[in-house]
Amino acid sequence: MPLAPKALFLAAAFCAVTSFADDSVTSLREAAGNSLLIGCPVGEIDLVNQPLLDMVTREFNTITIETELMPFRLGEDKENFGFARADRVLEWADAHDLPVYGHMLLWDYRTPDWMFTDENGDPLPREQGIENLRFYIQKVATHFKGRLAGWNVVNEAISDADGEFLRETSAYRSIGPDYIKLAFEFAHEADPDTPLYYNDYNIVVPAKREKTVRLIRELQAANVRIDAIGIQGHWLLGFPEVQWIHDSIEAYAALGIDILVTELDVDVLPRTVAGANMATVDEGPNPYPDALPDSVQQELAETYHDFFTALLAHDEVKMITFWGSHDGRSWLNDFPVTGRTNYPLLFDRDLQRKPAHAAALKAFLYR
Ligand code: XIL
Repeated sequence: MPLAPKALFLAAAFCAVTSFADDSVTSLREAAGNSLLIGCPVGEIDLVNQPLLDMVTREFNTITIETELMPFRLGEDKENFGFARADRVLEWADAHDLPVYGHMLLWDYRTPDWMFTDENGDPLPREQGIENLRFYIQKVATHFKGRLAGWNVVNEAISDADGEFLRETSAYRSIGPDYIKLAFEFAHEADPDTPLYYNDYNIVVPAKREKTVRLIRELQAANVRIDAIGIQGHWLLGFPEVQWIHDSIEAYAALGIDILVTELDVDVLPRTVAGANMATVDEGPNPYPDALPDSVQQELAETYHDFFTALLAHDEVKMITFWGSHDGRSWLNDFPVTGRTNYPLLFDRDLQRKPAHAAALKAFLYR
């Protein structure tokens, strides 16, 4: 009994998908095609590691400059900004046609003292703080004008504390809460064509999502250019709830902005410190110093499959960047506990694909 035409078509379609899914596509970059930017950070230190660079260009279609654009690395010396390191990373990316994200113009981690505090460590007067913020952002954004796929203008400004909207950062103490708006305005003035985004962690958690929505609405009401929200994505086995990811993407997309996942990793080690507030401790459980047990490897793969399936369900997600090219380059080997062996990414210390890579790829191919 020959198959009816419709059944024949459906069978052929299914074979096409499964054969496509099974073997013709092996990297996330191939699976993404032109639908999504999939990336990792690259630092100057990586530029002498050819096997790593080869893996990056095979697997990813965008990079984020890892630390060379952070204010504490770029602007310690007000008279002499250290652009050369970031320029070298940018030159490599340009030579490989990889769009580059700028991370970041302002962050309260090791902010250069001259920007917002006086010689006694007290906040500078508002006008001086504004002038220094304008000076810094215009100098940096002008230097990289037209060369970046987007700027993380302000990083981690929202408070984790119940009932508190914004962190009392050094910029906040000098200028006041409108320092965020001013930072976006100065960036746009210096580089009018580059997309601008706000970036933070735990902003899929309902309470912090509400604060983030409030901040974006306030910036939009002030006619500030904000093109996207950066969801850092420092997640764990079992955190966050997948529904929070869906709800958050929908809430941010409703504001008319794109969603970028900017620092995705999945911590497989017991964590005693929430968030990503950079506070570290020297003691803590380090259960897998030599290798990750197969059972945890499998749990990590299932977790990445679930997170990727959720993220890829939304067309508003325009970029997913892992926070590390491979497990050996992950900041989670030293956060929140220093000196641990972590396994939060898709590639192991030998640059080999882990089961989590296959799981993420499967989510891509069956989306
Ligand atoms: C970390 C980098 O991985 C470190 O190498 C650097 O010394 C400090 O910053 N949230 C962020 C990132 O926005 O900038 C942090 O990355 C991780 C937490």
